[in-house]
Formats: sequence, structure tokens, C-alpha cells
Amino acid sequence: MRIGELDIGPGALLAPMEAVTDLPFRTICEEHGAALTYTEFLSAQALTHGATKTAARMWRSMEGRRFAVQVFGREPEVMARAALLAVEAGASIVDINMGCPARKITAGLCGSALMREPDLAARIVAAVRAVLPATVPVTVKHRSGWDERSRNASAFARRLVEVGAALITVHGRTREQGFSGTVDPRPIAEVRAALPPQIPVVGNGDVTTVADYLDMKAATGCDAVMIGRASRGNPWLFRAVLALERGEPLPTPPSVATRFTVWRRHAELVVAYAPVGMRLHELRKTLAWYSRGLYGGAEMRNRAFAEAAPAALLALGEAFFAALAEREAKSPDSSIRESQEGPLAKSMRRHVGKTSNDEGQASCGSA
Ligand SMILES: Cc1cc2nc3c(=O)[nH]c(=O)nc-3n(C[C@H](O)[C@H](O)[C@H](O)COP(=O)(O)O)c2cc1C
Repeated sequence: MRIGELDIGPGALLAPMEAVTDLPFRTICEEHGAALTYTEFLSAQALTHGATKTAARMWRSMEGRRFAVQVFGREPEVMARAALLAVEAGASIVDINMGCPARKITAGLCGSALMREPDLAARIVAAVRAVLPATVPVTVKHRSGWDERSRNASAFARRLVEVGAALITVHGRTREQGFSGTVDPRPIAEVRAALPPQIPVVGNGDVTTVADYLDMKAATGCDAVMIGRASRGNPWLFRAVLALERGEPLPTPPSVATRFTVWRRHAELVVAYAPVGMRLHELRKTLAWYSRGLYGGAEMRNRAFAEAAPAALLALGEAFFAALAEREAKSPDSSIRESQEGPLAKSMRRHVGKTSNDEGQASCGSA
């Protein structure tokens, strides 16, 4: 896939995720075959006012890998200055957030609220395009529309491409839907059909397996697929997609030893790069992601809350994976997955039907 003058290799893209796609997370996904990674959305206002915490989130990818910085805001001139800062920080691509549904963002008429102001959205893209070097593409991520009555994805995308957007990512839900229901591939397909063939369209939403990946491509004709939530604690999904794209056999699911090695590397990156005050919290997050659905995971996560030192959390993780490896070795047939469903979970499943696939993460102010 080509974005402007950039060649992007095969494989899925890692979605921007607030409080998730920091340098350690992006590095792990890159090492497992993500074709491109994005920072979480960063406030253009904060960046241009010199907020050091926000600027620190633009950490460039290791080993010279390309990455995209995502910015949000609504003043074209401020967005242009923020985009320049992103490029100074090493971004190969500047992505503009026009999809965030969170009230804290839309109340300021940013994120998905811009889908109701196509003229302003176009002025933002034009202003950012005007200041960046020609080698740095400007891209936009948006939703299928503000709500059911105003699904305007294809007209909106066309407008943005006319003023310089080099790639459009569509999350196939409206702002009104938040994360509820399922992704609708039709608006993604419509955007693909509406844009010139040299402008890539990325399909996003609810891709959790290789089968979902194939479905997204088949249903929309999109040029690439972006994966968000399913990558947490599961970078192997990128490896599987890459193998598929290269026509290689699909890798087998990771063994306990592999899970441990990758969690440990992720945790070490957190220790090395997370701000000191955030280390504990970030380490707990890695434990939660990599233990999800695994035997003994719930108990380990509870214990993680009681630990107050990074070393203790690392030891807890090591003990968790060691016990899991023992279980795997003792009885290779027995699953390492949590299989026993408690009566409460069972009855909830009966009553709720299909559960949310975001475990409440949408409350993190995500797009
Ligand atoms: C915790 C979390 C944070 C998110 N933060 C952002 C963000 O900063 N910028 C953005 O464009 N989308 C953000 N999103 C939305 C994702 O990029 C993606 O569009 C969405 O999760 C649907 O893809 P998925 O089903 O593969 O997760 C976030 C989603 C989650 C769950």
C-alpha cells in the first residue's frame, strides 16, 4: 500500500488508542508485524502550548520504524502547528482524529463532531497539508457519520481527499453508536467506492481474528485493515495477518513460554520508558492484557492491585506464567484457558446475550 510517497508493507495497522498505544505497546506490535502504528490522539492545543506530558507521547518508534502521530483539535492554524511538532518529533504521517465520540472531545466540537462541519474539517486538512513537507502524508480517521440520520462518510471523505488527505480510515460505527452494536462494513465500502483508487481506505472495527480480517477486506474492498482492541495482549494477531498476506502458513497459537517472553519484553519496555509515576499502573495493564482469558488470570489480576512495587508485579507475572507452563506440561490436553464459567457469569450471559466486546474500555474516551 502506498500513502502519498510512502510504501507501507503488508499486514494490519495498529489503531490509535488512548492510554494504550504508547512506545512499549507500539514496539511490541511492530515486532509482531504491524505494518504501521499510531500514537494515541494528542491535543493540538496542548502540544502547541508546550505541554510536556503530551509531547512525550509522540515518542518515535525504535530502529527508525515509521509511525503516525494522531492529533485532534478544531482550529486549522493550531492543528497545522501541532502537525509540524509531530513531524519534528519523528512522525512519518500525521493523522487527524475526526472520529472520537467521547463527550469530553465532542463537547469541544472536536473528534467526531467535525463530521457535522465538513467545511471546517476540510480547512483543517488543507491547513495541515500546506505546512508539512510533501513527503509527510496527512491522513484522517473518522466514523460512518454522526448518527443514523446523518451518515455522510463517503461525501465527507471525498471532501477531505480533495484538499489533501492521502488516506482515510473509517471505523464503521456512527458517533451515536459509540462502541455498541457491531461494525457496519457498508460505509467503509462506500468510502472505498467514492475515492480515487490511489487513495487507500482502511477498514476498522471489530476485527479480532484472521477470519474477521478476511471478512473486512471482502465486505469493503478496503486496502488495509486497522486493529485496535484485539491487539491488547495479543500481538500475535499481527503475525497471523502478515503470514496470511504473504501466503505463508498461519502460525500456531503462542505457547505459554512465548506468551511469557513477550509479556516480559513488554513489561521491560514499560519499566524503561513509562514515566516513573505511571509505571505501576502500566505494568498492571500489561498483566491484565496478557492474562485475559487464561487460567488463574482473574486471581492474579486481583493480587496485582495489592502490589505496590514494580519488582513485585514482575515477580507476580513470572509466577503466573510459571504456574501456567506447569499446567501445560502436566497435561498437554488441558486448556490453559479459563474454562470454568461461574454460575453468575453463566446467568449474566443468558440475560445479557452478546456482551460488549470492549470490557468497558469505551469509557476511556476513545474514538
Ligand atoms: C481504549 C481505547 C482508546 C482509543 N483511543 C483512540 C484514539 O486516541 N484515537 C482514535 O482515533 N481512536 C481511538 N480509539 C478507537 C480505535 O482506534 C478503533 O477505532 C476502535 O477501537 C475500533 O476498532 P477495534 O474494534 O479494532 O478496537 C480507541 C479505542 C479504545 C478501545
